[in-house]
Amino acid sequence: MAKTSKISGLGDSGGQHNEGTLNPNTVLLRRYRVMGVLGGGGMGTVYQARDLQFPDVKRMVAVKEMLSPSPDKALREQTLKTFRREANILATLTHPAIPQIYDFFDQNERAYLVMEYINGSDLEAILGKTRSLPVEKIIEWAIDLCEVLGYLHDHSPTPIVFRDIKPSNIMIDHLGKVRLIDFGIAKNFVSAKGNTMIGTEGYSAPEQYKGNVSPKSDQYSLGATLHHILSRKDPRLEPPFSFHERPIPDFNPDVPDWFAAIIKRALSFNPQDRFESCAAMGAEIKTKMMGQGARDTSQTEVFDEKIANMQTVEHKWVFETEDEVRTSPTAHDGMVFVGSYDTNMWALDLETGEMRWKYHTDGGIASSPVVDPASDLVLFGSEDHTFHAVNYKTGRIVWTYTTRDRIRSTPTVAMDHVFFGSDDGNLYALVSSNGRKLWEYDAQSAIRNRPLVTDDMIVFGNSMGDIISLSLSGERRWGYRARRDIASSPVIYDKEDLCYVGSHDGYLYEIDANSGFSSNRFRTMGPVITTPVVHSGRVIFGSVDKSVYSVEIGTLREKWRFTIEHPIVSSPVVHKDKVYFGGTDGKLYCLDASNGQELWSYTAEAAITSTPLIANDTLVFGSLDYKIYALPIFD
Ligand SMILES: Nc1ncnc2c1ncn2[C@@H]1O[C@H](COP(=O)(O)OP(=O)(O)O)[C@@H](O)[C@H]1O
Ligand SMILES: [Mg+2]
Repeated sequence: MAKTSKISGLGDSGGQHNEGTLNPNTVLLRRYRVMGVLGGGGMGTVYQARDLQFPDVKRMVAVKEMLSPSPDKALREQTLKTFRREANILATLTHPAIPQIYDFFDQNERAYLVMEYINGSDLEAILGKTRSLPVEKIIEWAIDLCEVLGYLHDHSPTPIVFRDIKPSNIMIDHLGKVRLIDFGIAKNFVSAKGNTMIGTEGYSAPEQYKGNVSPKSDQYSLGATLHHILSRKDPRLEPPFSFHERPIPDFNPDVPDWFAAIIKRALSFNPQDRFESCAAMGAEIKTKMMGQGARDTSQTEVFDEKIANMQTVEHKWVFETEDEVRTSPTAHDGMVFVGSYDTNMWALDLETGEMRWKYHTDGGIASSPVVDPASDLVLFGSEDHTFHAVNYKTGRIVWTYTTRDRIRSTPTVAMDHVFFGSDDGNLYALVSSNGRKLWEYDAQSAIRNRPLVTDDMIVFGNSMGDIISLSLSGERRWGYRARRDIASSPVIYDKEDLCYVGSHDGYLYEIDANSGFSSNRFRTMGPVITTPVVHSGRVIFGSVDKSVYSVEIGTLREKWRFTIEHPIVSSPVVHKDKVYFGGTDGKLYCLDASNGQELWSYTAEAAITSTPLIANDTLVFGSLDYKIYALPIFD
């Protein structure tokens, strides 16, 4: 491939690593900030980038980069020419299935094409991730592909032949619609003779090998693509032009005979035997489909949603425990610690997911661990009534402290002490290094949240709905009574000494941390079990009413809400202007914190109740499917 050329003057930050791929955060033209790699191959890389021209909104673009493939000047000129041609072709086209082009420039021997970012997956990737696709959906795509090819072939003054139709050059966007990408070799069709073979073996028409290319060659490649996605037989691995030896119904009984027959005709060896045009092929599919009766759109809709979720995010690792993982992980020193209802605390390598140790208790673990770096301890409670302190490197027990009931409260470590509640109704303050009790406070009913500890006070809630503030020496400062159980943990907005906490009564309360007076509350339609997070003037939290809310500090006016189909009990976390949380629908969501728009989601196999953890560009969470997942995250 290309030698690594120096990028100078590209902008404020960034650089490159070997192979010449731009690093995340590189800024091109002082305008496009590279966020990650979308794909690439042939001649360069396709990046996802953010358009900085619009500082208030996140406008994503795709930037296709073309490297000069050779030190030879003539060859370099040739590739740049190809690239400019692609840019020029695209710029003149307007069609819903063709990405819009925004910009084109070359810089330091690399050429860049800036275009509409398609939120979705290419068909090649989808083929790799699925075992089969609904035939109704493929028929719909086939109609749309015939339509867009018809549009290109009708281009005046000269038809445009795409010449490289294949799964990796077709994307399915988040609405389930097809989009044609990669116009690199599409060429205004002037004369059929004398062109050299361009295309992809397996998908290219026989005449294309002889340099005779016409709109009918695209029809053949479309046939080859449809044959591949329906039969799941990759033509690149089969003898050339051997589709007729692999009738689609032999591999996929769901495909109607008429559709198989249409594809067969498109795959005719002789161009004269194919359909008159792609438009004619599309018309034929539509006619036959009508004859078959109405399509089952319900299935299609569900599928669209699935496809939309298939984009970009792949897990780094998955670790399976022996029971539900209800609680949240914590990380320290390259390790991640997660409790499971299988009674164990698991310590895994953050990077690889390999197990470092596990520590057994006599009850399920429904409390999230914390690490006290000063004493090298991981601290957590168990339903065995006991609070455990374990050396984080070895997993060996250092001390334990037993209460009179189950411990489901997550501890807080501050000022060499650890604070946690128990179902026995007490809040405990112990010396973190040795477990010696400093004091206990009797709150009358079970404490299941994580105490908030500031420089001069502690705030927590109990199952009777009391929100209680203590001094650091364990004396009561104030109390506020909500109508029901407090499982959400209080958080504080320091600047104004405002404290936020949710309740089973459906409200998010805003409380003055000094007086305990509640000035304001925000009503949702279900229990607020999640712990709120304060981020740039707003409070973000989820509710069992299936929404995540962002409300303004002080007024509690709603700024946005994001609704899913299942209750939300996993608390949101904010990292670099993105909100992450799990749903009991089994999905881990990533939203834009400023407007609540979904950026992506990742699907686990069961409900997610655990709050995600972000450390070293890795997001870790547990699911009721017994597993712990680690996903890579980008800025
Ligand atoms: N506009 C876009 N939006 C999102 N992803 C894209 C976009 N263009 C390309 N990609 C991704 O990058 C991959 C490579 O792009 P493509 O234009 O086909 O380049 P190549 O010439 O390397 O094949 C595609 O298969 C697709 O997954
Ligand atoms: Mg391609």
